[in-house]
Amino acid sequence: MQGIFESILLTKTFTTDLKVIKLVSTMKYTCLRGTKDILPEDMQYWHHIESISRNLFNYYNFEELRTPIFEMTELFERGIGDDTDIVEKEMYTFTDKGDRRITLRPEGTAPIVRAYLQNGLDKKSGQSKFYYCGPMFRYERPQAGRYRQFHQIGVESIGNEHPYADAEVIALGIHLFDEFGLTGLSVSINSVGCPVCRPVIEERLKQFIGSNLKKLCGDCQKRFDGRPLRLLDCKNKKCKTYLTGNSNIHDSHCHECADHFSSVIDYIEAMGIPFKIDPTLVRGLDYYTRTTFEIVSEHLGAQNAICGGGRYDYLVEQFGGKKTPAVGFAFGVERAVMVLKQHSDIIQKANPLIYLVPLGESNRPALFKLLNELRRNEFKCEIDYSGSDLNKCLKKANKMGASNVIILGDDEALSQTVIVKNMIKREQQLVSLDKVVDVLNDSK
Ligand code: HAM
Repeated sequence: MQGIFESILLTKTFTTDLKVIKLVSTMKYTCLRGTKDILPEDMQYWHHIESISRNLFNYYNFEELRTPIFEMTELFERGIGDDTDIVEKEMYTFTDKGDRRITLRPEGTAPIVRAYLQNGLDKKSGQSKFYYCGPMFRYERPQAGRYRQFHQIGVESIGNEHPYADAEVIALGIHLFDEFGLTGLSVSINSVGCPVCRPVIEERLKQFIGSNLKKLCGDCQKRFDGRPLRLLDCKNKKCKTYLTGNSNIHDSHCHECADHFSSVIDYIEAMGIPFKIDPTLVRGLDYYTRTTFEIVSEHLGAQNAICGGGRYDYLVEQFGGKKTPAVGFAFGVERAVMVLKQHSDIIQKANPLIYLVPLGESNRPALFKLLNELRRNEFKCEIDYSGSDLNKCLKKANKMGASNVIILGDDEALSQTVIVKNMIKREQQLVSLDKVVDVLNDSK
């Protein structure tokens, strides 16, 4: 559709004037499908989320670690798993001018583990706790809450096998969303076992599917031999019916995994976090062992998972380090913003604008001095440079949403005063120049 529209406009460029040519060139450029601009009007939501996150990460003793947005393709192939949806279908992969296979990061865990090893952070202390924020890239079919470039904020707690570490990151996730002011969230938890009991779980599942395999979707048939657990994760309704009645994954856990899981649950219960156990929550990344969890929002549509995470006890070893257990999560910032916008009353009103109007050229320096003073006292200000008459300036101030207008004309200059006009209450007062900050502070 867009193509037809463009070609009509292009035809016009040959028959009409320069203005049309300009129009065509601006119409042609849009951001790519699945990406979007984050506009100033939405920034208050992003800042709310980012600043609360940084504060809480500090209280929980997580430190920021920033990694590049592209990495060697192999890092994700090995880390996330060759036959996952992300690696098979969704990666933005290209060959650079040096013939290297490069991928725009689809997630943050594999890069953090790479950075942890490469920079010798594994040698520093027994436990390392990192957080990260930034854009991720997945070639998915775009829809509400699902983008090709999206942002994640996540944490990785590396070096602690104790169930406390799992409970700590889950508690941190919930604490974050509570502080954002989000409601209608629920937590699902599962354990996908370890290399000891995973083969038992998988074998039982394969036996249960048995001759029904041919009736499952192509992806399930393909995963049956190598990654049968992923069948539990299939969104296809028909596949789900063939899985009904399959034995509970928890019945096949080894003692260590069963004990670990029950301790995680004990800690979460002790913190008073409501949750449900979902034995089908296997998640779409291969690195998970033991605990997996997801936080979903009832305020989102089909893409209701706002946060996902789990334990990955073998990834550090797989990347060449020594055996180091780890657990973490990431949440989607766009999805958190979507929920937040439905409760816009949560966001504190931005600092209102003060608009300064000098009447006459000679009064500009005095008002410029006041402008400087107000900004240094943390007022958001703008000065009118147009030289237009007062009515026009007031209209402009109104349009810009100014809460107060400060006017300085010849009379005020003589008496070292200004008029402070409150645009909301529609009242004005004469204020001595050295008292303006106090008066504005009082009216906040
Ligand atoms: P994930 O479940 O793939 O996990 O992604 C985490 C969150 O990112 C999702 O819950 C969702 O909110 C958001 N998200 C994912 N894809 C999109 C998309 N296309 N558009 C918008 N938002 C999206 C991971 O990425 C793991 N690395 C999490 C983790 C950290 N596990 C252990 N540590």
